[in-house]
Amino acid sequence: MPLTLNADQLTLVANAPDDTVVVDVPLFEDALDAAPVDAEFMTGAGFEAKCGQTLLVPSPDGSRLLVGLGAADDLDVAKVRKAAGAARSAAKSFGSLTTHIAAVASDHLDADASAGAVVQGLLLSSYRFDELRGEPPEADELTSITVATGAANDVAEEAATIAAGVALTRDLVNRPGGTLRAVDLADAATAAAGEAGIDIEVWDLERCREERLGGILAVNAGSTHEPRLVKMTYEPDGGSDTTIVFVGKGITFDTGGLSLKSGEGMMGMKTDMGGAAAVVGAMRAIRTASPSVRVVGICCCTDNQPGPEAIMPGDVFAARNGKTVEVLNTDAEGRLVLADGLSLAVEMAPAAIIDLATLTGACLVALGGDIAGLMGSDDALIERVESAAATAGDEMWHLPLPPQYRKQLDSTIADLKNIGTGRYGGTLTAGLFLKEFTGDVPWVHLDIAGPVMTEDASGEYTKGATGFAVRTLLEVAASF
Ligand code: BES
Ligand code: MN
Ligand code: ZN
Repeated sequence: MPLTLNADQLTLVANAPDDTVVVDVPLFEDALDAAPVDAEFMTGAGFEAKCGQTLLVPSPDGSRLLVGLGAADDLDVAKVRKAAGAARSAAKSFGSLTTHIAAVASDHLDADASAGAVVQGLLLSSYRFDELRGEPPEADELTSITVATGAANDVAEEAATIAAGVALTRDLVNRPGGTLRAVDLADAATAAAGEAGIDIEVWDLERCREERLGGILAVNAGSTHEPRLVKMTYEPDGGSDTTIVFVGKGITFDTGGLSLKSGEGMMGMKTDMGGAAAVVGAMRAIRTASPSVRVVGICCCTDNQPGPEAIMPGDVFAARNGKTVEVLNTDAEGRLVLADGLSLAVEMAPAAIIDLATLTGACLVALGGDIAGLMGSDDALIERVESAAATAGDEMWHLPLPPQYRKQLDSTIADLKNIGTGRYGGTLTAGLFLKEFTGDVPWVHLDIAGPVMTEDASGEYTKGATGFAVRTLLEVAASF
């Protein structure tokens, strides 16, 4: 079980009994005088009610857990989710917890949204990846949580399904490259589609050849493992003329290919399927968004290996849409598999395409580990994704696609080359490369190389995979 806490262990009640072992006291930083302890005690402990800060105040008749919510004016669902995750972690060695975070938040935000965020935060902070441990880890004591809220039980159910989607994404990203091959990623997508009650189609190597998926085949050439192209489809009741498509980079391990990475550079490259994993996690929970449009999730899956048949620097292939690409660096492979995925998406004449990829180390240089780069061809879609991301708590920053950099991708022998010239602006030239495969369809590209994983466990996050962008995709789907 990836989530060690489950929805059955949460009780939503309007009037919470205050006789549980730990009861939390949510506090705003601008109203610290509401705390049941004196100011000196809090100052001494460094507690300022910053969002996600906690302070346990022990007492024989039930301990109090002070939980910071930040400034009252700044409260949003992402902060509520974070505070709830922090509260559960701070109380995990106690038997039971009553949380008032949702009740307090509902004075400022929608009551159902507040309760949903609390349930997500509680469940997601309980996530663990234990399937490869030899010795069973110690379980948390905390097995019963009462959530004070006016919201109904189906809010909790929906939040639990979203948390399960995020947890699935985390599991897939946390799995090592040798454990999760393209075939395994496709199998996991098939299982998720079954649970979600949606359609799925999986193309094997032979079918990828028949369908002329030149980018996926080029990257897969050095591998002894077959690639997979996965297409998951949610069909709204009564159907729809409108389609939106999510496309995920699913490189189950990126060695760099013949343009081999260093040993250090390879560390963490098991997460190079984080885009595809986010698509699978979002499709697992897609019914919670009740989209009124068709939603298609495409995953381009293979590992990137330097085997004897591997594509060589200078080789040229033709992508699904017919454009030819000179591969001068086999480590710029994500854009090659996405070229096919985006081409397939365009063939569906959708209203929007959003692709997700751990695409460039340059994006980490630009934005650090917590923030994704966002690029796109359509202002309205960019705004839609930015607003969805804000609700989701996925941090993103809009980067440009400067037309004057496009000539860096000109090839002397093919339609395009797969890298820019020089060392700078690598995230942008990667975005410009992808743009060549998006036709006239409104498109947004998310470079999630940084936030796909985290080193520090805080709020709803645990160390390792984050499940970044799953909730953003669900919010985007819900907005159509
Ligand atoms: N998967 C990497 C990008 C990456 C690097 C993600 C570090 C997370 C951390 C991608 O396939 C890659 O290798 N990109 C190259 C592109 C370059 C060869 C143009 C890079 O960023 O160095
Ligand atoms: Mn690479
Ligand atoms: Zn890669």
